[in-house]
Amino acid sequence: MGSKAQIQTVKAEFLDPSLYEDSSLSGVPRLSRGTLVGALSRAFDLAEGRKPGHAQRVAYIGVYLASDLWLEPQRIEEVFFGCLLHDVGMAAMEPVAPPGGRGLRFWGGARRSPEHPPRAAAGSWAEVIESIARHCESGASIARRMGFPETVARAVLHHHDCWDGSGRPGALPGSQTPLVSRIVSLADRFESLLDTEASPLVVRKSGPRLVEEMAGREVDPDLAARMADIAGRDDFWLGLYDNDLGAGLMALNYGGILAREELFDFLGVLADVIDVRNAREEGSGRRIAELARRVALTCDMTERRADLVKVAALLQDIGTLGVPARYLRKPDILSVDEMAAVQMHPVYARDILGEVPGLGAAAWWVGCHHERVDGKGYPGMLEGSEVPMEAQIIGICEAYDALTSDRPYRRALPREEAFDVLRGLSGSRWDPYVLSRFESVAGPFEA
Ligand SMILES: [Fe+2]
Ligand SMILES: [Fe+2]
Ligand SMILES: [Fe+2]
Repeated sequence: MGSKAQIQTVKAEFLDPSLYEDSSLSGVPRLSRGTLVGALSRAFDLAEGRKPGHAQRVAYIGVYLASDLWLEPQRIEEVFFGCLLHDVGMAAMEPVAPPGGRGLRFWGGARRSPEHPPRAAAGSWAEVIESIARHCESGASIARRMGFPETVARAVLHHHDCWDGSGRPGALPGSQTPLVSRIVSLADRFESLLDTEASPLVVRKSGPRLVEEMAGREVDPDLAARMADIAGRDDFWLGLYDNDLGAGLMALNYGGILAREELFDFLGVLADVIDVRNAREEGSGRRIAELARRVALTCDMTERRADLVKVAALLQDIGTLGVPARYLRKPDILSVDEMAAVQMHPVYARDILGEVPGLGAAAWWVGCHHERVDGKGYPGMLEGSEVPMEAQIIGICEAYDALTSDRPYRRALPREEAFDVLRGLSGSRWDPYVLSRFESVAGPFEA
């Protein structure tokens, strides 16, 4: 995975758990839907190959515009969630690049982020349009499954629709789409355009013109006029380029605090999406997470800490949204470059979860879920007790589930054979204590 110097840098970073672990933490913090989606939207940016923070900036623009229109608080919240979730549908698929690498301005843009190499395979225009339609529809369905109101689901469904009725098969023209949808669509397009400009200074100057150019063709002309006015205000730009933009959005705590079961259900929907992306049976992530919670309890952890292990396990592979789905589903052996890309997924996950207040420890564990006690794991090559026990628990539950499930390249192993494989890795992949705790739970669990 890259040069020796790169490996040492990654290892040095991983050797400092204090960067992530919150020592006062004993369990899952109280989290609102807004905080969670605010942070996890960074994973959706990765799936679309956008600059990190795209969805958060779209939410800032949308909420600013909705507030300026004096919409009622409930509508403003719907704009907020519509903006953050607009590309959640990309999580289960892969974008298709237009032929010849041309941009997709009329569909809200699909420019590749400079931080990420072009990943999408180029397709025909028909395939591009099909992928736009598909991620809008699947995104709306994910929003519904997460329990958001229909207004939010419709905002996700219509985010590529143009005012003139183009943009997506089935697009609704003019004011036939709800106001919340039109605000989300405008905010997404505007942010995408700003992203193509050279610097914030250029953007400050060209912003009003950029939004006016879209009026009447791509976006609602009345909304565009209001946005052009906003784009002439300094406080709007100062807020947009504030380094704490994400934290500020999360602190709004929109959507209410999630109770314990609500949190598991909410993250379970994301885990289902991650299963699909990784060509695993839907429900595997939830199964692994519950198993991990039970194993954690037998390792003398408190109920609250075991719950946090479950949260981490549900989100362990959220970083695969930053890995091309075609690598994750490839039935053959991966090339060196493909493998290096796949091995970045714990790093992406760690960085995304590290943004959620109170989930520092979970971020650290998720970042280590492919480490091995013999030091041959990735990405940090931690050794022995450097590998947190919680990460070992998550890793062993995932491995057992993988061994006992059908994969594109092999059939499921019978349970006893799966246990033999895990035992064969005792002392190298697994800490023998964690393996023994796992065996004490996994037997009756599936009996
Ligand atoms: Fe989109
Ligand atoms: Fe977008
Ligand atoms: Fe993983």
